[in-house]
Amino acid sequence: MAMRPFVGGNWKMNLDANGATALASAVALGAPACQGAVDIVVFPPFPFLERVARALGDSGVELGAQDLSSEANGARTGEVSAEMLRDVGASWVIVGHSERRQHLGETDARVADKLLMALESGLRCVLCVGESLEQRKANREAEVVGSQVAAALAAIPAAQVHSVVVAYEPIWAIGTGVVATPQDAEAAHGAIREALTSRYDSALARETRVVYGGSLAPGNAKALFARPGVDGGLVGGASLKAPDFLAICSAAAHRLIAH
Ligand code: 13P
Repeated sequence: MAMRPFVGGNWKMNLDANGATALASAVALGAPACQGAVDIVVFPPFPFLERVARALGDSGVELGAQDLSSEANGARTGEVSAEMLRDVGASWVIVGHSERRQHLGETDARVADKLLMALESGLRCVLCVGESLEQRKANREAEVVGSQVAAALAAIPAAQVHSVVVAYEPIWAIGTGVVATPQDAEAAHGAIREALTSRYDSALARETRVVYGGSLAPGNAKALFARPGVDGGLVGGASLKAPDFLAICSAAAHRLIAH
């Protein structure tokens, strides 16, 4: 059974206030064309969450944040809590993006704490995993994504896993224009589902959406989403242009899965 696909737009540290509003309005306007068949979520920078929430209105496009604190509140200067995100209308959050793991020292343990905090606060999560170029050259991709998934979900009970989407984002494909082949993605998604099966069971592994991220574009999305087990995408650069992002959403909504 094919699952309802998920497409997220990770805007990263881009845009200004007016640009964020304009992009959200354009996505909201175009989304109804594919929305019956795909979950669409945008992830703006923190300062723009409220205005993006207003621009999305009742379009059905959901709002997410790019990160959260592992703490509930208190003396954590510069951090943003799960409750604050919910308070401004976010229902999703990205956890463990490779840019935070690489540049901001985010460890597997910290990712696990954040995931737990987000889920306990009622946020749904996109958990990002993915191997570096060196790890892929050493044929370690399955081991790397498997251990990232196992570490992040170690404290998460089965009942909460339906609120998690796992994003396979190979680091060498992010922002490089080098996209994983559909076969590479399918294999890595299989490794992620094996890790989910070890942690929980095969039914839960099958029911958990696993999406691809890394240089997704209108021209390559269709072939990726046609692979069994590739349940949508997490889009960086192409999510900053509404027509490109909407084309990727449409490719997910109309995907025909090869067998
Ligand atoms: P790009 O689509 O720009 O490669 O970024 C992918 C990504 O990191 C999404 O989280």
